[in-house]
Amino acid sequence: MKRIFTLSLLIASLATAETPQKVDAEAVFDRVCASCHHKILGKTEAKKHFKTLKAPPMIEVSAQLKNNIRIVEDIDDEIHRAVVVAFIKDYVINPHLDKSMCTAMALEKFGTMPSQKGKLTEEELQAVSEWVYDYYKDKEFK
Ligand code: HEC
Repeated sequence: MKRIFTLSLLIASLATAETPQKVDAEAVFDRVCASCHHKILGKTEAKKHFKTLKAPPMIEVSAQLKNNIRIVEDIDDEIHRAVVVAFIKDYVINPHLDKSMCTAMALEKFGTMPSQKGKLTEEELQAVSEWVYDYYKDKEFK
């Protein structure tokens, strides 16, 4: 039920795609997200520094979302990207325990992410959400 609700939200926001070129998405990440999410951190490092981490590393978040968000088996890459990007966009503004795909252990440690509403423009939100999908394409969380 929870997943169905999330999915309908996602699909509703799929209509808004395409980023204007002027936004530097990585700079948005560095400004708004990097204070909590490491950009790249290996599993061993993450375990070692677990106590001081404020949030899961973004490389892990990206991998986790890509694995968990599967609507149908042979989903088209572009549609998969659009759905994952829509999830991220929604989560950054309206984070909620029920939507989080983090493990119970992670959630207990980190608590739910605070909303970033007001910290970035709609264009920046779109750009950084696409960046979270694209930047980690050839990078593995290991
Ligand atoms: C103040 C700290 C903080 C900031 C700033 C922050 N986050 Fe988070 N974020 C968290 C924490 C803690 C979690 C893990 C708990 C959760 O899922 O809510 C999280 C989880 C997430 C998740 C969900 C992961 C999942 O598996 O469900 C996404 C997506 C995400 N963050 C993206 C972003 C993006 C993109 C930005 C910048 C625009 C950002 N966050 C800024 C703390 C932060």
